[in-house]
Amino acid sequence: MNNNLEKKFEEIRARFPHTEKIVYFNAASNGPFSLDVKNTIEENMKVRMAAEIDDTPTGFESAEELRAAYAGLIGASKNDIGLGLNTSFGLNVVAFGLPLPPGSEILVSDIEFPSIVYAWRAAAERFGYKLKFVKSKDLIFDIDEFQKAITPNSRVLCLSYVQFFNGYKNDLATLSKICKENNLLFAVDGIQGMGTEPVDVKELGIDVFTSGCQKWMLSPQGCSFFYLDPAVRERMTVPFMSWLSVDWQMNFTSLFKYDNPYFDAVRKYELGYYVVLNLVGMKAAVKYFQQLGIKNIREHNHRLLDRLAAYLKSNPYYRITSSMVEKHRSSILTFTCDRYKELFGEITKSKIILAQREGSIRVSAHLYNNAADIDKLIEVLDRFSKQV
Ligand SMILES: Cc1ncc(COP(=O)(O)O)c(C=O)c1O
Repeated sequence: MNNNLEKKFEEIRARFPHTEKIVYFNAASNGPFSLDVKNTIEENMKVRMAAEIDDTPTGFESAEELRAAYAGLIGASKNDIGLGLNTSFGLNVVAFGLPLPPGSEILVSDIEFPSIVYAWRAAAERFGYKLKFVKSKDLIFDIDEFQKAITPNSRVLCLSYVQFFNGYKNDLATLSKICKENNLLFAVDGIQGMGTEPVDVKELGIDVFTSGCQKWMLSPQGCSFFYLDPAVRERMTVPFMSWLSVDWQMNFTSLFKYDNPYFDAVRKYELGYYVVLNLVGMKAAVKYFQQLGIKNIREHNHRLLDRLAAYLKSNPYYRITSSMVEKHRSSILTFTCDRYKELFGEITKSKIILAQREGSIRVSAHLYNNAADIDKLIEVLDRFSKQV
């Protein structure tokens, strides 16, 4: 990484006040706010308290800017992007909007984050689909088991890009190819990889991609975006509808028109007016990803985790539980030891914030972290392993 880029990372780190008080390795749960996010939200609050108050255009303009920004980050076009409230929003749009015959099989992993399972479970109950769990192997989604599970009734594979509990990055290219060969729609819950692991929906042949922005995208809670491939959009019915599913040409003076055509764009699945405070916050946050580039963020994060992994490998007390195979790595690294719960307490006491998941300690490294943060964690790990 060249000096200019390193400097940019340092400058952006300085925009995150928490870095002066704590070490934060928990973006996989919730991302921190930067000063820029806080400032834009405060600006919007001030407008709503001042003479103008009615800032309706801000919502529309911000939404349009954000659709274009997220499209740019995942190789899509802005008409293929909609804004929602969370990852589940996009999952439900497709689960309830895609018309499938009764008896259709929806394939999901048996170690999946519940948002995928519950969205499809509800659709299965409503439309008579069958939710089919693909057997994992060593806590990893197994491609052979996936292929064995496919039958002529299989219609959808819905899977996380990166698994929340061990950071395993699924091989989207191979999975997408298998989906195409078997006529399955490929829907991806991208939240644990969005912003840290590059994704090009066109190149990868992803049909649906949905991601909350409250974690790695460093945005307010309760906001997300989703992508639908145009061919999928053509197949879809509208699962629900709002007055903003249609084009008013920004003229809201005569509203007794009930036969406006839908937008020919994914925004037709958005529900009503926007959470503008969130949109302005998202706009401030998305700029970091545009400025740094997701490939560079990945390199930065992986380099930090390499430093930690080297230590963990050198100390027999610890065992890495994430895959270290390059193509399956993400910005999440997990490890464990005999007394990991006690260790977790020690780490927290040292003002280092991370998470415990499924018997491991989960470290999420992100663009505001640096090598000194990793060294602080290593110091605690070293002390702990010498005490026990
Ligand atoms: C893989 C995955 N999907 C979804 C979510 C959250 O779903 P939502 O944004 O709908 O709350 C999480 C974490 O909270 C997650 O790890």
